[in-house]
Amino acid sequence: MAVSLPPLSMLFVFFVFYEVVSFRITSTPRFDELFQPSWALDHFIFEGEQVKLKLDNYSGAGFGSKIKYLFGKTTIRIKLVGGDSAGTVTAFYMSSDGANHNEFDFEFLGNTTGEPYLVQTNVYVNGVGNREQRLNLWFDPTKDFHSYSILWNQRQVVFLVDETPVRVFTNKEKQGIPFPKDQPMGVYNSIWNADDWATQGGRVKTNWTHAPFVASYTGFEIDACECPLSMAADESARRCSSSEKKYWWDQPVMLDLNPHQSHQLLWVRANHLVYDYCTDASRFPVTPPECDHRHHP
Ligand SMILES: *[C@@H]1O[C@H](CO)[C@@H](O)[C@H](O)[C@H]1NC(C)=O
Repeated sequence: MAVSLPPLSMLFVFFVFYEVVSFRITSTPRFDELFQPSWALDHFIFEGEQVKLKLDNYSGAGFGSKIKYLFGKTTIRIKLVGGDSAGTVTAFYMSSDGANHNEFDFEFLGNTTGEPYLVQTNVYVNGVGNREQRLNLWFDPTKDFHSYSILWNQRQVVFLVDETPVRVFTNKEKQGIPFPKDQPMGVYNSIWNADDWATQGGRVKTNWTHAPFVASYTGFEIDACECPLSMAADESARRCSSSEKKYWWDQPVMLDLNPHQSHQLLWVRANHLVYDYCTDASRFPVTPPECDHRHHP
């Protein structure tokens, strides 16, 4: 059977359309539209669309968002320190301020050459953390950039790696468990030395002869409800948690993982989870209340 080819004019229309769409998708904000260095500006390297942070035995470095946000999605593409990264921690996290702060953490724990990174996630609510989970990755995070995202709405906090959910912290306020929902959070990235605990339980120390350790960042995206620093917290909460569902992350389909994502999460947990505080009976003789092992679809 002969396949008829589209006329050239159609192809042209298609390519113009494709260009417009792909331009829109790839034109993510520049670093300095969203972020500013927080410390050690002399440990930054700015290279076009990329920002690199250096860790040496004088200092690490970090950057933070210019404003805070309440609900939404934050994504950053990171290429982690290659080669010997033992003792180093590269972190991507969101945090509010104060003693009763909330925090969502991705911490990438370095390793000796050829040994796998661990990704530790944690959730602080009202100043209390101790909710560590650790997983290894299904790719080498030092070879290429990969995207890491935090999706936050009134029903769940989802940690994603290349859009695959690796952890969900579900709102269980109905069971009396506090959920972070009224403190605007900043977005932060940093690299520092943590060789007292990070690598193989602290047994492997940072080898400073391999410094500087360099992590690279690009693809800065924050699609979230903005809370200018001048705005009072209750005003922000009112604006960003309206029940009108005007934000895409509040739409009904965003309130739970979809079936495909639920399967992805099960796959990650079955194949890549190496530690879960929920099942650490030596630390928690009584299982923490938010740990619910019945997996809801
Ligand atoms: C480092 O590699 C060792 C050996 O493969 C592994 O047990 C450990 O979980 C890896 N990651 C860290 C951060 O220690």
